[in-house]
Amino acid sequence: MANQRQPRWQRRAYNIATLREESRRVLPRPVFDFVDGGAGDEHTLRRNVSAFDDVDLYPRPIGGAPSRDLSTTLLGRRLSMPLIVPPTGLAGLLWPDGEAASARAATKAGSVYCLSHGSVCSLEELAETGVEPRWFQTYIYKDRGLTHEMAARAQAAGYEVLIVTVDTQLLGNRERDIRNGFVIPPTMSAREIANMATKLGWLWRMRSAIPRITFGNYRRADGGEDLTALAQRMVGLPDPGIQWRDIADLRARWKGPLLLKGILHPADAVEAVANGVEGMFVSNHGGRQLDGVAGAVDALPAVAEAVAGRAALILDGGIRRGSHIVKALALGADCCSIGRPQFWGLSVAGEAGVAHVFDIFRRELDLTMGLCGLPDIASIGPDVLARDGTTVERARLAAASEAVAAAAAAVVESGTAANNGDGAEERVEPVPEVGGPAGPEPTRYGDWERKGRAIDF
Ligand SMILES: Cc1cc2nc3c(=O)[nH]c(=O)nc-3n(C[C@H](O)[C@H](O)[C@H](O)COP(=O)(O)O)c2cc1C
Repeated sequence: MANQRQPRWQRRAYNIATLREESRRVLPRPVFDFVDGGAGDEHTLRRNVSAFDDVDLYPRPIGGAPSRDLSTTLLGRRLSMPLIVPPTGLAGLLWPDGEAASARAATKAGSVYCLSHGSVCSLEELAETGVEPRWFQTYIYKDRGLTHEMAARAQAAGYEVLIVTVDTQLLGNRERDIRNGFVIPPTMSAREIANMATKLGWLWRMRSAIPRITFGNYRRADGGEDLTALAQRMVGLPDPGIQWRDIADLRARWKGPLLLKGILHPADAVEAVANGVEGMFVSNHGGRQLDGVAGAVDALPAVAEAVAGRAALILDGGIRRGSHIVKALALGADCCSIGRPQFWGLSVAGEAGVAHVFDIFRRELDLTMGLCGLPDIASIGPDVLARDGTTVERARLAAASEAVAAAAAAVVESGTAANNGDGAEERVEPVPEVGGPAGPEPTRYGDWERKGRAIDF
């Protein structure tokens, strides 16, 4: 219930959908679209959210608890609720010192903050703020030395968990960014500047932050590279030819839990466990990479079946409601993560905005659990779900498990080593075709390619 003493933005942003609208109101369009958009036709982006509508709850309210315990344990960490902030680059473009603001809000909410490789501040700078717990995300780079260097820096700076994102070896086709000519460093078109009347708050707040925007983790000590050159260099760094042996190698080097981000196929989940990975983000990168990919929650049951409790599973993508968390946990996740909702909150009110996001999810999760008769997180299981008139999700799980059994058998038969074959030569990133003029405004794709089109943010 809205409280009249709440700030106006909080009263307007009473759920995640209305918070998104607030974010649209305050951010320049290229920046809003950069956060909000997905790849191609954005089918996967939409599916991530709509897939939750295909999963129904079957509450059993009798036998619930007068108050619910939302806390849980993830990789040995006690969390106040099963929700974390995944790596999201360029937070500092939305709010001054955005990474630190978001990290403070997440950790004060009893959650975890994952710092992206593509953060504005460096991983050392975030560590210096003392915010904890911190996880760090990186890639397998063509230069394996750089991968090892990033891991060593994160270890030295006290990051608890290392995340390797595997679905962004090539940058997805972000058509909103192409249309808007979104580049790093950000530039505004004449039309955008003319439309700035409602974005003055962002402009004013960011006036001294914009010149300082950089990719902190890639900055050269001599500073001898401008931001455009830096962004261009970053695009070519990840290796599209990564192999399981790279994961095994990193597993051996990193002292702490190692997670993969971007797992959707049960056979890959089996491989990940075989390579000693402690957990994975079941994720399609929020629909920002390959359009046409299954919704994250669509992929979850088969992955959960394959992993069978041997690794932690974080459902990443499309979480917009507390009820989505219950559904994801019922389908086998241990935790969920929120990329865009966190960024919408950050863009509207900085640390307070991200705190508000956690409050919304906490309230909705608690209400869902209360109305479903679920006293605590451990009580959330498949029995709370039904589909197509069945009383449980078992039909789906049974079908999935057949596919999993076949995939897992194939993996075991071929042996992990077989997948480590010698396919690791560097591939040159194909330059997408330049489209013809689109209506009166010519496409800026070519320009976008030459300027600081940046690796996933
Ligand atoms: C603006 C933005 C930047 C992102 N940057 C990264 C990144 O640097 N590394 C990464 O692994 N994922 C990145 N992601 C993906 C998120 O970690 C996450 O997978 C995705 O946002 C989940 O979908 P959701 O936004 O529906 O919650 C980014 C997502 C957004 C929206």
